[in-house]
Amino acid sequence: MSKKMAMWWMGALIGGLSAIAQASAAPAQAVPLDSDAGADAGDVACGEKGQPDCPLQGWMNKNIKNVKATGTKEQLAKNLALIPTLAPKAEPKWAEEWRKIADAAVKAVEAGDKDGINASCKSCHDKYRDEYKKKYRKLPLPPPAPKP
Ligand code: HEC
Repeated sequence: MSKKMAMWWMGALIGGLSAIAQASAAPAQAVPLDSDAGADAGDVACGEKGQPDCPLQGWMNKNIKNVKATGTKEQLAKNLALIPTLAPKAEPKWAEEWRKIADAAVKAVEAGDKDGINASCKSCHDKYRDEYKKKYRKLPLPPPAPKP
């Protein structure tokens, strides 16, 4: 091989290597520097001060609390009826009980019975909220129930 040819080969080799180095560096750069993904994979930081809402917490805030404050009766009734579908799959008894509470809540909404609505919120929260937060808070919500 001539000296000129050898130089060409070296150049091609170095060029190739740096292309590989850049390609493998690219995905690492896509991860934000402050991300702790990997250290705690699959475990979202949520619900504490400065963190985003946890899945059910966010759902409640958006679909129940906000709709109760500013939405229509129809929308609130519809959303309340969905709560039992959000019970953790590991607790089939909860889904049953949540259905009863939600049904009562829907009736109260339809009757315009504010105290009745609030009593439904409270009865579920008093009985289930602490345990839910302890055991299931980070659980992603199940997919929405199919529309009838
Ligand atoms: C059948 C059960 C059930 C009913 C009925 C229910 N909730 Fe909830 N709610 C929960 C659970 C469980 C949580 C805890 C989720 C979490 O914080 O991770 C929760 C959390 C919330 C939160 C989040 C609070 C926070 O920490 O940010 C709000 C707001 C809320 N509910 C409002 C309501 C209102 C208003 C009603 C009634 C109109 C209602 N809920 C009815 C089960 C229920």
